[in-house]
Amino acid sequence: MGRWRLSRRKLLFLCVLCTSLLLFLHLPTSPHHFSLSPSSTLCLSRLHRISWTQSPSPAWSWAKSENCRFRRFSRKHASELLRGAWILAAGDSQARLVVLALLRLLLDPTEVSTVEPDLFRRHSDYHITLPDRGIRVDFIWAPYESNITWLLRDIRHTRHYPDLLILGSGLWHMLHITNPSLYGTALTEIKQEAVSLLEPSGSLHPHMFWLGLPKLVNSKLNTEEKKEKMTGNMLEAYNWEVKWRGMPKGSSGPFMLLDIGLLTRGCGPLCTLDGMHYDGAVYDAAVNIMLNSMLIESQ
Ligand SMILES: *[C@@H]1O[C@H](CO)[C@@H](O)[C@H](O)[C@H]1NC(C)=O
Repeated sequence: MGRWRLSRRKLLFLCVLCTSLLLFLHLPTSPHHFSLSPSSTLCLSRLHRISWTQSPSPAWSWAKSENCRFRRFSRKHASELLRGAWILAAGDSQARLVVLALLRLLLDPTEVSTVEPDLFRRHSDYHITLPDRGIRVDFIWAPYESNITWLLRDIRHTRHYPDLLILGSGLWHMLHITNPSLYGTALTEIKQEAVSLLEPSGSLHPHMFWLGLPKLVNSKLNTEEKKEKMTGNMLEAYNWEVKWRGMPKGSSGPFMLLDIGLLTRGCGPLCTLDGMHYDGAVYDAAVNIMLNSMLIESQ
C-alpha cells in the first residue's frame, strides 16, 4: 500500500483554494524546523477566527480574512484530500465527537445514522474503512494520558504510522485525579513520544493534532462530583499545562492545537446540554480547521 501524501491532484485542488498562498512552496524536510511562508503562518493563526450564530441551530463561519481563503469542505473535497489516508484518533469523548464530525463530512446522512450507534458504544474503540476512497478511520478509546502514551509507543515500535493523528484527553484526569501538575507531567510523556514519532520517518511524518479542553459550563454538569471538581479555575490550570508543557506548535511542540476551548466559548452555553459535550457544529468547525491547516502546511 502506498503511503498517503498530497498528490498533484490534491495540490491542484489546493491551488484553487488558496491562490493567494501559492507563491511559496515549502515542502517539509525536517519536521521540527520546516519553515512556513509568512502568509501561511498568518493564515494558520487566523484559522480559529470564527463567528457564531444561534438560530435556528448553532452555525459557524470564518471571519473575513484578507489574504487567506479558507474552505468549508464538501464531501467531495474532503474525500479528495483524504484519499488513501489512515486517520487515527485517540482520546476521550471530545475525540470521539471529532471523529463523528469527520464521518459526517465523509459519509451521507443514512450511512452516518448506521455508524453512530457503534461509534457511541460507551468506552469502546471504533474502526471503519471506506474502501471506495481507501480511507481508514480508527478511534481508540483512551481516556487517560497514559493510554495515549502507550498507543504512541506502539506506533513507534510497529513503525506503522498513521497519516493523521488526532489526540486529546484531560477531562477524566480532571475528574478522577484533579491535579494540574500531574496532568502536565503526563502531557510531557505524550509529547516526548510524539516527537520521537516524527524523527525516523522524515518528511512523511503524520500530521498531529491536539484537542484542547472544552469550556465547562459548571451549572450544567450532570453530577455533584463534576460540579465540585471541574471548576473554572481547575479548567484554567489544566489549559495552562497544555501550553506550558509545550504541546502546541506555537509553544515549540509537535501538535497543531485544535482549540476546542475557543470554539466552545464561541458557540456558547446554549450549545451544550451537559456542560461538556457540545453541538455538532463545534466539532464540524474543528474538522474544517484541521483540514485547512493541512492544506496550508503542505505548501
Ligand atoms: C487507560 O489507563 C488506565 C490507567 O493507567 C488503565 O487503568 C486503563 O485500563 C487504560 N484504559 C485503556 C482503554 O487502555
